[in-house]
Amino acid sequence: MTELRPNQSIKLLQELHILTRDEKLNQDSRRKLKQVYHLFNFIEPLLKDLSAKKENFSLVDHGAGKSYLGFILYDLFFKEHGSGNIYGIETRDDLVKKSTALARDCKFDRMHFLNLSVEASMDDSSLPEEIDIVTALHACNTATDDAIKFALQKKSQYMVIVPCCQAEVASVLRKNKSPNGNSLSEIWRHPLHTREFGSQLTNVLRCLQLEAHGYQVTVTELVGWEHSMKNELIIAKFNKDTNKKKAAEKLTSLLNEVGLSEMSERFFIS
Ligand SMILES: C[S@@+](CC[C@H](N)C(=O)[O-])C[C@H]1O[C@@H](n2cnc3c(N)ncnc32)[C@H](O)[C@@H]1O
Repeated sequence: MTELRPNQSIKLLQELHILTRDEKLNQDSRRKLKQVYHLFNFIEPLLKDLSAKKENFSLVDHGAGKSYLGFILYDLFFKEHGSGNIYGIETRDDLVKKSTALARDCKFDRMHFLNLSVEASMDDSSLPEEIDIVTALHACNTATDDAIKFALQKKSQYMVIVPCCQAEVASVLRKNKSPNGNSLSEIWRHPLHTREFGSQLTNVLRCLQLEAHGYQVTVTELVGWEHSMKNELIIAKFNKDTNKKKAAEKLTSLLNEVGLSEMSERFFIS
């Protein structure tokens, strides 16, 4: 099956409503399990790399929601590995309480949940100074950008990001229908195009921002998420040899060309 893997906690899967009480796969949750497994295939090699280099390592999952991802990562990797911590950051207190209780019941002692916004988590003393890997799966709107800022501040080795829709870039494009009077703005003149182009441009700017900070970036489609338009997976790995200067120049000139220079703080370079 998509299905269960050796040593997976039945109790966990039942609590996440992936398995029914009689240990059958819940059809409604089957897709969620498939998605998270698929993402796990991308994240597992990064965890193996980190765990080979460090005694203890930390993963922060921003906009954790019900923490499917965090729980499956813990169950499939952290549990057996015996070290490493996962922190889930979530603004909904009810979800934080539920996940905290579930982690306690499953004896997942190195899972922690904090009722914080991504932005507030940057200054929260309960998190380590350095975080090795940051995930953000459909963290709403600009929470994805905050997650990137968090990872840059925490000098993360890896980021795994599946962006949600972001309305900010489209709203600035809408204001500036014809920057520099050029025909380029035809790309976003119609409202539907403003939204779609805004969404793609947001991710292009995020990738350039990451490269300008020394990350090597891979963009791919998160297959298995066909039902969702939001299926772009961005994986960033810090690599001190990347050409930061060139990416920074491209980012600045792109912002100018499409009339978004007022957004240079959002996609800050240094
Ligand atoms: C679409 S859900 C995704 C949940 C989970 N990552 C998943 O993919 O199943 C987005 C979650 O992010 C939380 N959220 C939204 N903005 C946030 C912010 N600024 N800081 C922290 N959490 C946020 C919401 O409460 C919600 O639970």
